[in-house]
Amino acid sequence: MTPPGSVIAEGQTQILIPSVHSTHGPGKIEAGSVFFNEQMAFNRDVSIMLLRALGREKLTVADAMTATGARAVRIAHEVPGTEVTANDIDPAAMPYIETNIALNGLTNCIASNRNMHSLFSEQTFDYVDLDPFGSPSLFIQSAIRGCRKRGILAVTATDTAPLAGAQAGKCRRRYQSEPIRGYMCHEGGLRILIAAVAREMGKFDRGMRPLLSFYADHYYRTYVQIVEGADACDEMLSHLGYLALDPATLERSVSPTWDREHHYGSMWTGPLQDKELLQRMSPEGMSQEKRCVKMLGLWRSEVDTTPFLYDMSELSSFAKLSPPSLDTMVAKLQELGRTSMTHFCPTSFITELPAAAVLEVYRANSPDTIRRNGGTY
Ligand SMILES: C[S@@+](CC[C@H](N)C(=O)[O-])C[C@H]1O[C@@H](n2cnc3c(N)ncnc32)[C@H](O)[C@@H]1O
Repeated sequence: MTPPGSVIAEGQTQILIPSVHSTHGPGKIEAGSVFFNEQMAFNRDVSIMLLRALGREKLTVADAMTATGARAVRIAHEVPGTEVTANDIDPAAMPYIETNIALNGLTNCIASNRNMHSLFSEQTFDYVDLDPFGSPSLFIQSAIRGCRKRGILAVTATDTAPLAGAQAGKCRRRYQSEPIRGYMCHEGGLRILIAAVAREMGKFDRGMRPLLSFYADHYYRTYVQIVEGADACDEMLSHLGYLALDPATLERSVSPTWDREHHYGSMWTGPLQDKELLQRMSPEGMSQEKRCVKMLGLWRSEVDTTPFLYDMSELSSFAKLSPPSLDTMVAKLQELGRTSMTHFCPTSFITELPAAAVLEVYRANSPDTIRRNGGTY
């Protein structure tokens, strides 16, 4: 029997969704109802773009926590060469998954009603997707066990309050990391999540490198490519570190070891993206095509090798001068060193230059300085 709900189109796929569902935010868990969040369509779009860009002829996929099967069915329908297991522990999810497989006439997708921990103790896949309610911390280890050699793991975390430092105690307990509040909170949150994945990889003597990591809406998301072997594992661990922020100078610095100043973390201090893969990702046919175009542009151009970002409000309250436009600031800094906008916040930028250089450019281009020097702004 078809379960209650309505059919929507997302990307190229038809999806039956429950009548009671979330439209935005982290989403509510309604008692007895199967979860669906319309706003996560962008998150699912990104999976499709990334898996297509891999260009693999064959790819086995496990959507470990699929709920209605939305992501699993989209992957099976929209990414050529995939064999997909749409898994959820909730028996109430099965009629939705089965209906969605049938609606799209799929022969490369199966419904599975397992606890992901037991599924991954028996079976491995080329791509594993982890999308739990809230924190993924309890599930990461099993998900890694479920990844084949050189597999790809994708992890969503919607517990942004702990990761971004609003609930620091929870972050320490779940991720064994000290979060940072303020302008850098979301970059810090994402880097803490990646560090947590890296530490779990280490337990298996496996390394990894991020293919794409981002903050959007109410969640963090990272896709990592597993690199097998102890050497790769050691190389990965060399990218874990601690952040210091000097309030007297705004200088950020990263250290591989903890000390009194470097007490935020541990965090992933390496690159967040694989720029070549990003170049191959196409937004064509995605459900939120415009947003995909915009975000791909930001991710591609983002300087992601140097933590951590600066914010115009941060500079303005530090320098006590009104701000130049963000475009001017970025253009002037680009004359001196690698600098870009960042996807974390529309008023922030990221640069390889030291804080002293950033502040010099800020002061020189502030409208207050230009007026004081007799110029017009
Ligand atoms: C946030 S929802 C997933 C949403 C889905 N990925 C989507 O894009 O619509 C989380 C799901 O995880 C499932 N879940 C929780 N614990 C699980 C476990 N141990 N094994 C498998 N599924 C689990 C829940 O039943 C729920 O449907």
